[in-house]
This record gives sequence, C-alpha cells and structure tokens, in this order.
Amino acid sequence: MKILVINGPNINMLGIREKKIYGSLSYPKLIELIEEKSRKLNIRVECFQNNIEGEIINKIQSTYGEYDGIIINPAAYTHYSIAILDAIKSVSIPTIEVHLSNIHAREDFRHRSVTACACIGQISGFSSFGYLMALDYFKEAGIINE
Ligand code: DQA
Repeated sequence: MKILVINGPNINMLGIREKKIYGSLSYPKLIELIEEKSRKLNIRVECFQNNIEGEIINKIQSTYGEYDGIIINPAAYTHYSIAILDAIKSVSIPTIEVHLSNIHAREDFRHRSVTACACIGQISGFSSFGYLMALDYFKEAGIINE
C-alpha cells in the first residue's frame, strides 16, 4: 500500500522563502518528517516535488493502479489549475489537499481552491503537521491497510 506526496511550485524553497509565513523548516527536513511518520505508520511513501504543472499532472496520472492515496500541496496551482483538478478526478484515487499556511487567512485570491472539490478534504494552516495528519487519516480510516 503506497501513498504519493506531491508538492507543487516553490515548496522546494521552504526554509528560504517567506519565513514569516512558511517557517524555517526546509524542504528536505519536511520530507524527513513525512518519511519518519510513514515508517511509524507502516505506510510506503514516495515524495515528489515539481515546479511545472505538466510534470505534476504526469505524476498524478502515473498513480493510477499504483497508489492507494495522494497527499497534494498544489501550491499556487491550487488557485487556478483546472488541469490539476482534472488529473485528480481522472485517477479517482483518494486525495487530501494540504497547505502549510492557512490559505483562508491570507489574500483573497488564495481563499479559493479549484482542486479541493476533487479531494476528500483540505488541511490548511498546520505547517508540516498537515502532511502528517493526512497520513494519520489514511491509516486510521482504513484506506491504507498495511
Ligand atoms: C501554499 C499556499 C499557496 O497559496 C501558495 O501559493 C504556496 C503554498 C501553502 O502550502 O500554504 O505556494 O500552498
């Protein structure tokens, strides 16, 4: 049983970009936390980050028949990528949307997610914990059995 964690544009700049909003945790450290949690839960996880919309779509499509769940932070694409929305819908794999910051407490243009409607739900504002909560959900909800 496998989970794919997808991070979109600029998430690789964590720890460097807008620290007041995103904190000082680096991207490699975030991945370490996700891998550590997955080991504890006995979940196989793959982490993928890309700055290019088409690459993210290719990766989502590659999950079909291969993965049991997706955790995705589409970053800025959250707010306008109908193509990523359609990719999530195409594979119909249980997906959770995560945001490090609380997008609803920020600029108006960040309040709207075009991708969340294809997801089980959205976790927003809990920094790195959001990804770990999503892993807990997959495990506890029995979506991932081993
Ligand atoms: C983000 C929020 C988005 O609005 C922003 O474009 C990001 C990161 C978050 O994790 O808080 O790049 O998805």
